[in-house]
Amino acid sequence: MSKVTVKDLDVRGKHVIVRVDFNVPHKGEVITDDNRVRAALPTINYLTENGAKVLLLSHLGKIKTDEDKAKNDMSIVAKRLAELQKAPVQFVNATRGAELEGAVKDQKEGTIILMQNTRYEKGETKNDPELSKYWAGLGDLFVEDAFGSVHRAHSSTVGIPENLPAGCAAVGFLVEKELNVLGGALNNPQRPFVAILGGAKVSDKIGVIENLLKIADKVLIGGGMSYTFSAAVGGKIGDSLLEADKEDMAKDFLEKGKGKLFLPVDTVEANAFDNATEVKTVKAGQVDDGFMGLDIGPETVALFQKELAGAKTVFWNGPMGVFEKPEYAKGTEAICKTLAGLDGATTIIGGGDSASAAKNLGFADKFSHISTGGGASLEFMEGKELPGVAVIPEK
Ligand code: 3PG
Repeated sequence: MSKVTVKDLDVRGKHVIVRVDFNVPHKGEVITDDNRVRAALPTINYLTENGAKVLLLSHLGKIKTDEDKAKNDMSIVAKRLAELQKAPVQFVNATRGAELEGAVKDQKEGTIILMQNTRYEKGETKNDPELSKYWAGLGDLFVEDAFGSVHRAHSSTVGIPENLPAGCAAVGFLVEKELNVLGGALNNPQRPFVAILGGAKVSDKIGVIENLLKIADKVLIGGGMSYTFSAAVGGKIGDSLLEADKEDMAKDFLEKGKGKLFLPVDTVEANAFDNATEVKTVKAGQVDDGFMGLDIGPETVALFQKELAGAKTVFWNGPMGVFEKPEYAKGTEAICKTLAGLDGATTIIGGGDSASAAKNLGFADKFSHISTGGGASLEFMEGKELPGVAVIPEK
């Protein structure tokens, strides 16, 4: 990673705008996973300890209605942030105007202001020039530390640094770490490099399958999307998930991935998604009529374990089945356990559902790296340029 980092900036006494990703899951006012808040602390602490006046900006949720606004009030996160670190945190319930400007003007060195949800502003997701310029006017420097949002070209991720003079923008420690780990796997992986991709839809993973088929030594496919692959080679998939318009693409991947792309060899099928009365394991491509595949079976676990043995780099994105239901979590759990036990391997989870799975199953601390970005880590592994990273200059 050769971007300018927060350590290259002279931050003492300066107003430093930090774009963090505090888009945390929450039920009412209770944050159910505060990992993203914790992950932002190294940069925040560094800045406060070095005498900066820190202004934190983040979105929370997707805002379309007033109800969305009420549900995604950033004050929920302000409370948690205040509990997690020492510097004083002031929450400002505004995204522009006299209250915000006054708080920034009066701010003392080593303190933190967390502004209200950036998406309360309609212009945020459009990278509105007026809004970007206004927010940029609140700071002297900008630090990009919202790895989970760097695939978005929004005012708070891209517009602010574009409106600051040269030499005033840098990445924070979280973005630096994510780029180093994910970039290491993508550009210079220790081999064998094995990718495991799951989740419901082929359409979400086209770019990443395409790119990893070029880079990885093996690509193992599980989860709901494997049924489209199975259908593409004439398998019977019953009522399993199918993206019929992606069958040709799946065939193409199978052709390109000959010898390195591995599909499930068996599947756990059930006669209903909820309250199934019959659950059994069948060969892949032989799902019974009236049944749907909901997890990989034990033979697939054994096959994937064999292909993972000796791996030195592993990238995993997407569960192997409907892991939220204990009866279909076995495949995901077995893969998690296998990765956790790989000796001397760099094991990376690409955010999203697989990160929740590892956490819920109690394996989170057994991985080398769990990315804080779901969409962002996938786009990075697709080889795409991430706008929030591209806007920060090289050293
Ligand atoms: C995420 O949770 O993936 C990021 O915070 C981005 O959120 P978004 O998909 O609402 O832009």
